[in-house]
Amino acid sequence: MSVATILAELEKLGCDNDRIQNDKSKRYLNITHDTGVFLAWLVNAVQAKTVLEVGTSNGYSTLWLASSVTQTAGHVYTIERDRTKAKEAAANFDRAGLQSRITLLVDEAFSALSRVPAPVDLIFLDADRSAYLDMAPRLYELLKAGGVLVCDNALSHADELADFVNWVQSQAQLSSCLIPVGKGELLIYKAPADPDRHDYAASASKS
Ligand SMILES: C[S@@+](CC[C@H](N)C(=O)[O-])C[C@H]1O[C@@H](n2cnc3c(N)ncnc32)[C@H](O)[C@@H]1O
Repeated sequence: MSVATILAELEKLGCDNDRIQNDKSKRYLNITHDTGVFLAWLVNAVQAKTVLEVGTSNGYSTLWLASSVTQTAGHVYTIERDRTKAKEAAANFDRAGLQSRITLLVDEAFSALSRVPAPVDLIFLDADRSAYLDMAPRLYELLKAGGVLVCDNALSHADELADFVNWVQSQAQLSSCLIPVGKGELLIYKAPADPDRHDYAASASKS
């Protein structure tokens, strides 16, 4: 089955399920279609070969990333702690014929991150936002200099991201900007280490 057909099917499933599902742990909480388009574009723009996603759900966003890394001969590592959702994701990866491009780590993100090989060119963060601050040093370590981290829900749940954003702003090599796509995407760029470099965009965003 084509990736486009599966993506369209998962969009409908996500909307139908999440509209009537009262138990939040059973909602798919997928990214929006335009966020998927944006992520696929970004994989190509930065020529990402190694991509890390935290928060797989049933694999909707992973399929956008993985279908794009086929053009860079890359690989996607994706982390999900919910076994039922991980099983659904694995089935969707098989149906799309993209299983060889994806490593699904079924675990708590904090421990799974130690099994992801550095450097990572692009990180997509879409999980339990209260855990981001604890994960931040490892994510920073994994992200290559010149790499990009994208954080979903930057507009829809800005208050819950405040501590993480403060941490980002305290790091000399990181600069960020907010893109009003979907639920709001915070783009964080890790600059190469250079003691003589002055980043005007980063200092403006910190003032
Ligand atoms: C918003 S959903 C991800 C949606 C997915 N990115 C998509 O667009 O299709 C968040 C997922 O992250 C998982 N999750 C949340 N916190 C996690 C953690 N600390 N470790 C591993 N998985 C986590 C949840 O079980 C849930 O399936």
